[in-house]
Amino acid sequence: KILGIVRMSKTILVTGGAGFIGSHTCVALIAAGYAPLVLDNLGNSDVRVLDRVERIAGQRPGWIEGDVRDRALLDRVFAQHRIAGVIHFAGLKAVGDSVTDPLGYYDNNVHGTWVLTQAMEAAGVHALVFSSSATVYGETDPPIAEDAPCHPTNPYGRSKRIVEETLGDWQLARPHWSIALLRYFNPVGAHESGLIGEHPQGQPNNLMPFVAQVAVGLRERLVVHGNDYPTPDGTGVRDYVHVMDLAEGHVAALRKVQQAPGLLTLNLGTGVGHSVLQVVQAFERASGRAIPYTVGPRRPGDVPANWADPSRAAEVLGWRARRGLDAMCVDSWRWQQGNPKGY
Ligand code: NAD
Ligand code: UD1
Repeated sequence: KILGIVRMSKTILVTGGAGFIGSHTCVALIAAGYAPLVLDNLGNSDVRVLDRVERIAGQRPGWIEGDVRDRALLDRVFAQHRIAGVIHFAGLKAVGDSVTDPLGYYDNNVHGTWVLTQAMEAAGVHALVFSSSATVYGETDPPIAEDAPCHPTNPYGRSKRIVEETLGDWQLARPHWSIALLRYFNPVGAHESGLIGEHPQGQPNNLMPFVAQVAVGLRERLVVHGNDYPTPDGTGVRDYVHVMDLAEGHVAALRKVQQAPGLLTLNLGTGVGHSVLQVVQAFERASGRAIPYTVGPRRPGDVPANWADPSRAAEVLGWRARRGLDAMCVDSWRWQQGNPKGY
């Protein structure tokens, strides 16, 4: 207590905070006056990201190496730090791997979230922001609003949907809890400094990192997965959202869950769809390099087009994506060029 005013804790536990979206969110959290405490098992990340976050934000996130399924570790973390809320990014996200190892995915993504939730309850921490995905919708006509039916088409998507449903049950049973389920569309780009970004291990599954690797000369050409979709140029259309816009969306969601109990489900997207060829052209403009490509067959499991109806996030959080496709490509290129081999 200082002069009769109780000072609120600013410490936010950020699971998976060494990863792509988590590291950018740490930058946004620090800029907003929070103190991120990262817990990550480094299964898909590099601890040197913390040096970079410190260089950008002028403050180093707290660091705990460990697994979100380790209940004893979580109990120690909650006992040792006064944690005001949790942003839960830790999870596995490769659709193909989830098909070959479904139980591994459910264990990490579903069981991991349950262990974290139970540890939070035991510690009296009741504010949670969860990384869900637009993949929970499956094939639905865009623009997609939050009340669209959910029919995920693979174990990764189902793992996210199971977490959403079970956290919904939990919030009903514990009405003083406050939970935000954030459904991201296609996160791309990098911090504008070029110091942090996405560095997929092995061959990238996603379009933007693949295109960036072609531009920098790591890969010869892009294969466009189908140009016979019912879209303006025949290639798949997606709602690409700049990772710093997403990071700021998390800060807005965190503020919201700290204000009032309840369960919120929110799309984080721009509301604008871009085709594969539009992304290629924007990246060519950003990099000044040609992106050679060939057209291959459709990728199994792909939908023709999807983009968000982002109006609920605008109403509830006052959040809107501000950065367009050109900024996404320019920032992605700056990161790729400066760090062709990652950290
Ligand atoms: P990422 O792999 O870069 O980050 C995830 C981080 O979590 C990694 O640093 C990894 O080491 C860590 N992690 C994984 N399992 C863990 C565990 N059991 N204990 C501790 N740490 C663990 O991925 P990202 O792109 O930053 O995604 C973050 C979250 O957002 C994930 O839950 C992902 O499913 C979700 N999401 C991502 C996308 C996307 O396209 N990037 C889209 C929608 C949703
Ligand atoms: C993929 C995942 C989805 C996940 C999302 C995260 C699948 C089936 N879906 O979706 O679960 O939430 O990433 O961002 O893996 N493309 C090419 N050539 C490539 C790579 C992609 O043409 O080498 C095309 C795809 O066919 C698609 C578009 O680019 O039309 C975007 O692909 P991608 O970045 O993989 O995202 P999603 O398909 O939306």
